[in-house]
Amino acid sequence: MTLMSKDTVAASIERALAERFGERIAVDPALGGLAALEKIAAYRSHRQFLPRSIEPELLRLLCACALSAPSKSDLQQSDILIVNDMAIRKAIVATIPDMPWINDAPAFLVFLANGERLPLVCTLRGKPFPNDHLDQFFNALVDSAIVLATFIGAATAAGLGCCPISAIRDHPVTMSALLRLPERVVPVAGLCVGWPAQKGEITPRLSLQTTVISDRYRERDLAAEIDAYDQRRASLRPYRRQRSADRWGEAPSYGWSEDKARQYADPARADFGAFVRGKGFRLD
Ligand SMILES: Cc1cc2nc3c(=O)[nH]c(=O)nc-3n(C[C@H](O)[C@H](O)[C@H](O)COP(=O)(O)O)c2cc1C
Repeated sequence: MTLMSKDTVAASIERALAERFGERIAVDPALGGLAALEKIAAYRSHRQFLPRSIEPELLRLLCACALSAPSKSDLQQSDILIVNDMAIRKAIVATIPDMPWINDAPAFLVFLANGERLPLVCTLRGKPFPNDHLDQFFNALVDSAIVLATFIGAATAAGLGCCPISAIRDHPVTMSALLRLPERVVPVAGLCVGWPAQKGEITPRLSLQTTVISDRYRERDLAAEIDAYDQRRASLRPYRRQRSADRWGEAPSYGWSEDKARQYADPARADFGAFVRGKGFRLD
């Protein structure tokens, strides 16, 4: 990279982060890895894709990169399921009718927390398995989330767009049957992957003042910080429609906090814990 293009990329990262967090975060043009940082800083989820397939070799490369991520105690409790069969994809979409992008994406993957192998390894090696409690599920879940994030980073680096899908957990029993998931294997998230049809937009996040903490968690005026974020976000990326207006009416000012409060005023996935327990994980 030439010095001038390094200046340009550093400025582009600063712009993306200013839009995201509402403050200037200085980027030294002499820093290494600017091209990678630029993609990370400008991340956006994609839900519209070009009608162009993804070569299976590319998908395999991205899976290999994703599964190169760190793994708790090297336990490797994360799998990636690639849904190639369109009949299975259609059956998944049928459970989530308001997200057509799942069907439209050239590739659809499911990231799995796999707690099956570890007890099997203990049995194979004639050892007891006294660690059958919440931590095992937690470790598998965290590994899977890291693999998901690493896959998204790798796919983005290759010019692809992604959209994670937690809605595959809306009907976990159906999903588990469709994907023939065995005991102790549960879906964490789906992922739409494809060549972006649009540039997309940066979504502003809570300010770093709220989410980056030094030394000790501190008392602060969270309500004021959230109000400020609502205002910053509304000025840059106002919501196109108000959620559940039939229940809550049309709010004169509608921000992130109103949207999230409305979203979580409706019960969702209350059966997920029972599903995870039913799959053989012990959560105590
Ligand atoms: C674990 C996870 C699950 C998600 N589930 C869905 C989903 O079911 N449907 C969807 O359209 N977007 C989903 N998203 C995408 C988020 O809505 C998106 O990340 C968020 O609105 C911020 O936008 P951005 O990713 O463009 O910055 C999910 C994201 C994550 C990390």
